[in-house]
Amino acid sequence: LRCVKMKELKEYVRSIPDFPEPGIIFRDVTTILQDPDGLCLSIDELRGKLQGLDYNMIVGPESRGFIFGVPVAYAEHKAFIPVRKKGKLPCETVSIDYDLEYGKATIEIHKDAIKPGDKVVIVDDLIATGGTTEAIAKLVESLGGEIVKIVFVMELEGLKGREKLSKYNVDSLIKYE
Ligand code: PRP
Ligand code: ADE
Ligand code: MG
Repeated sequence: LRCVKMKELKEYVRSIPDFPEPGIIFRDVTTILQDPDGLCLSIDELRGKLQGLDYNMIVGPESRGFIFGVPVAYAEHKAFIPVRKKGKLPCETVSIDYDLEYGKATIEIHKDAIKPGDKVVIVDDLIATGGTTEAIAKLVESLGGEIVKIVFVMELEGLKGREKLSKYNVDSLIKYE
């Protein structure tokens, strides 16, 4: 599928100052999703970042990582492995605590979802501090998975999340200072 590009992807993003707390500019993906051309373009551009890459699964975190990870996995005929917030996955998990731009969290992945030799692409909507993705990378590697690439729709460059992920191949569609 190829989308008709009506405007740049960045133009679909709505920015809300002081949400969810003072000083944070919230980059809202719902305005990408609520326009069929925006949704199509975002998935298409993510897929474009993965062309020619050798991988067999996409790992994405609840909840915004699911929105972008699943359509890419479906379109590329790859597996999708959900990373969930604590207590949601029914079988044996590995879990990790981490910090984000505002607050703390614990995420989990099913132990049998990734096996040594799996080639993993991580997809999420946004990188802020990089804490979420760093935690996901640790989970994936603890199960023997190899991280081939990490792609985001948006990157908040000022928070230097990329520095936490310096050993990985990281890419994003839209950059904010
Ligand atoms: C947001 C966003 C990323 C993460 C980025 O998720 O969707 O996953 O924060 O921040 P970081 O780079 O500092 O880790 P959030 O945990 O707010 O949950 P959500 O996806 O369920 O909205
Ligand atoms: N997650 C972490 N920081 C964020 C921000 N500034 N906008 C949207 N989602 C976020
Ligand atoms: Mg998230």
